[in-house]
Amino acid sequence: MDTEPVTIQVFAQDPAAFSGDLLVFLMEEDIAHPGDFGKTINRVVQQIWETGDFKGGKDQVFVFYPALISQEARVAAKRVLLVGLGKQDDAPHVRCERLRLAGGTIAKRAGELKAKEVLVVLPKDFLLDAVEIGQCVTEGMLLGNYRFDMYKHPREDKDAPVRVERFFLHDGGLPQVAVHKGLERGRALAEAANAARDMANQPGNGWPPSAFAEYAKKLSKKTSLKCKVLDKSALQKLGMGGILGVNQGSAQPPHLVILEHRTHKNNPTVLLVGKGLTFDSGGICIKPPAGMEDMKYDMCGGAAVMAAMQAIADIKLMGVNVIGMVPTTDNMTGSAALKPGDVIRHFGGKTSEIINTDAEGRLILADALAYGIQTYAPEAVIDLATLTGAVIIGLGHHYTGLLSNNDQLATRLTEAGTQAGEPLWRLPLGPEYRKQIDSRIADIKNAGSDRSAGTITAACYLQEFVGETPWAHLDIAGTAWDFTEKSYIPKGPSGIGVRTLIACLSRWEPLKPVAKK
Ligand code: BES
Ligand code: ZN
Ligand code: ZN
Repeated sequence: MDTEPVTIQVFAQDPAAFSGDLLVFLMEEDIAHPGDFGKTINRVVQQIWETGDFKGGKDQVFVFYPALISQEARVAAKRVLLVGLGKQDDAPHVRCERLRLAGGTIAKRAGELKAKEVLVVLPKDFLLDAVEIGQCVTEGMLLGNYRFDMYKHPREDKDAPVRVERFFLHDGGLPQVAVHKGLERGRALAEAANAARDMANQPGNGWPPSAFAEYAKKLSKKTSLKCKVLDKSALQKLGMGGILGVNQGSAQPPHLVILEHRTHKNNPTVLLVGKGLTFDSGGICIKPPAGMEDMKYDMCGGAAVMAAMQAIADIKLMGVNVIGMVPTTDNMTGSAALKPGDVIRHFGGKTSEIINTDAEGRLILADALAYGIQTYAPEAVIDLATLTGAVIIGLGHHYTGLLSNNDQLATRLTEAGTQAGEPLWRLPLGPEYRKQIDSRIADIKNAGSDRSAGTITAACYLQEFVGETPWAHLDIAGTAWDFTEKSYIPKGPSGIGVRTLIACLSRWEPLKPVAKK
């Protein structure tokens, strides 16, 4: 957070002239000619290749020291690292992921070797657009180079892997302008995802609801984004009984934080909403203590939305207006806390009977969704939330749960997730599930009477507040942290959703109207 930023830039000279700690070549599996790396390197690589010690297999690495090989090597770098990319014959999104994984491997090996300056030569014939090659390698390296050590004292453990300080990309024969474009895009996306990981790594006492408000205000000073923060009295005036209700047991005031990215009034508007629960104790229906500390991550949806807005401003996204909204509070057990049986009134007037105070995410999201739709009339809404433990039972830590009232939007998000290496799996919605949250005394209740289809009933609750607006809900409870372990995202918060949202919004076209049944 207050560490020196990691830089990445294009290196336009001969890679042999790079005098930093580590020079990296990316190589595909079983290609007879391993690449054109200059005479000395070629000779060495050819030899290594012939021994069979390195064949460019996925995740394979090989380090050598050019100075030991020949006095006339004329390779100025201290070390050379070969990183395997695996076989070529896969779908484009698989190749993108290979490059990110290779980027992660580079950051990891560089860290172990305590290399601070790293030059990577891009692979020329990798059957992907040069922009994508530059972007994916950059994403992998910057995500893989992420550390969170602000609470460690001393800050750096002498034996731990170090952070690379300066990355360089050499085009390897690809068009340099395109590589530069990809580098800038990859940097913006990785920095944003890393910002989301920073927010998530912060403990509850280091990232209270006011931190979202402050972050958004700072962002709006640095960028073209507009920021609005609704404080407790504004929420009271608007009748946001969901956010206020969850906040009743807390010592900290709640906020509704809004960032606006406006391009043109004729462009469509997409609304993003993220659950910003800075700590979820469960409230009066308190959670068991084992693992409760992980509930500081209950704000990862909010972090993803904040970070996506940051990336949107950074890449100057065109063609669409985007509104980011984060309802934020913690869920505590103070004497005024919400109780089972209480009835609350959401923005817009719908009432809800509280069955379980631990089903609080849907309460704060409901207000934000209803308010966002009324205020901004978006053509689509996407919410992200660590909403249910049930999604972990169903999908584990590998797929984000997707629930939507619009097939086109669901397909777009699924494709965007695949492209970003953040896969989504759609679950159904329907009146048979909605019935499970019928209340005898209010319009709806906040939890079903049994645990069946917990992810779906939670989404049914949200659906009540979006009306006919095309909407998609991403339940990231299984993927926001401890996501599928990858070289570029080890354990801990993953920054999930940020890159998927940008992939989806980058090629936004107005949704086709759905024929009425
Ligand atoms: N924040 C939790 C969901 C969660 C659980 C996220 C585990 C990540 C890991 C949410 O507020 C919650 O507690 N949901 C309840 C809902 C239930 C009471 C209807 C759940 O999933 O158990
Ligand atoms: Zn909860
Ligand atoms: Zn929660």
